[in-house]
Amino acid sequence: MTKIEKLSLENLDQFLLIFKEVLKTGFPEYSEDLVNFLIEKDYAKNVFEEKLKSNQWFGFLEFIEEKPAAFLLADSLYGGVSYCNWLGVGESYRGRGLARDLLNRWEEEVEKAGGHKLTLITQGRKNHDFYLKMGFKQEGFEEKSWFGLDCWIYGKVIGEPRPNLFLR
Ligand SMILES: CC(C)(COP(=O)(O)OP(=O)(O)OC[C@H]1O[C@@H](n2cnc3c(N)ncnc32)[C@H](O)[C@@H]1OP(=O)(O)O)[C@@H](O)C(=O)NCCC(=O)NCCS
Repeated sequence: MTKIEKLSLENLDQFLLIFKEVLKTGFPEYSEDLVNFLIEKDYAKNVFEEKLKSNQWFGFLEFIEEKPAAFLLADSLYGGVSYCNWLGVGESYRGRGLARDLLNRWEEEVEKAGGHKLTLITQGRKNHDFYLKMGFKQEGFEEKSWFGLDCWIYGKVIGEPRPNLFLR
C-alpha cells in the first residue's frame, strides 16, 4: 500500500533517509564530493528545519508498506511559479508510478495555492523522455551551470497567471 504525506518536522528524519540514499545512488552526473557537500551543507537537517518553519520549502514523502520510498522537494510559490529542487525514488521502488504520483501531488498543491507554473532543472539527459511524458516541455539549456554542469530547464504551465494572487 502506498501513501503520500506532506513533508513536516515530524517525518523529516524519514524523508532524509530516502533523500540521502537517492542522492548517493541516483545522480551519476554528480561527483561523490558534490553529493557529500549537498547532503552535509545545502540540504543538511538544520537547513530543512529552517526552510520548513519559514515556509520557503514544501515537499512530499511517499511510503510503500510504511517505508519511505520516494520524495519531492519544492520551493514555495513565487510569482505564481514553484520550482522543484529534488525528485527521487528509491532504486528498488522505481517503475511503479511513484514519481508520477509525486509530480501530480505537487501540481495539485500549486494549483490549489493559485499558482500557474511548475519548473525544474536536470543536469543529465537520462530523464528527458520521462519529463516529456509527465507533460513538461524543455524550455532552456544552460552551459556549465551550477557546479560546472550543463543544465536543462523544464516547465509546465498549469493555469493562467493570477496577478491578483501573486501581487498581493
Ligand atoms: C527519474 C525517476 C524519478 C523516475 O521515477 P519512477 O517512480 O521510476 O517513475 P514512474 O514509475 O512514475 O514513471 C512514470 C512513467 O515514466 C516512465 N519513465 C520513468 N523513468 C523514465 C526515464 N528515465 N526515461 C523515460 N521514461 C521513464 C515510466 O516507464 C512510466 O511510463 P508509463 O506511464 O508508460 O508506465 C527515478 O528513476 C529516480 O529517482 N531516478 C534517480 C534520481 C533522479 O534522476 N531524479 C530526477 C532528477 S532530475
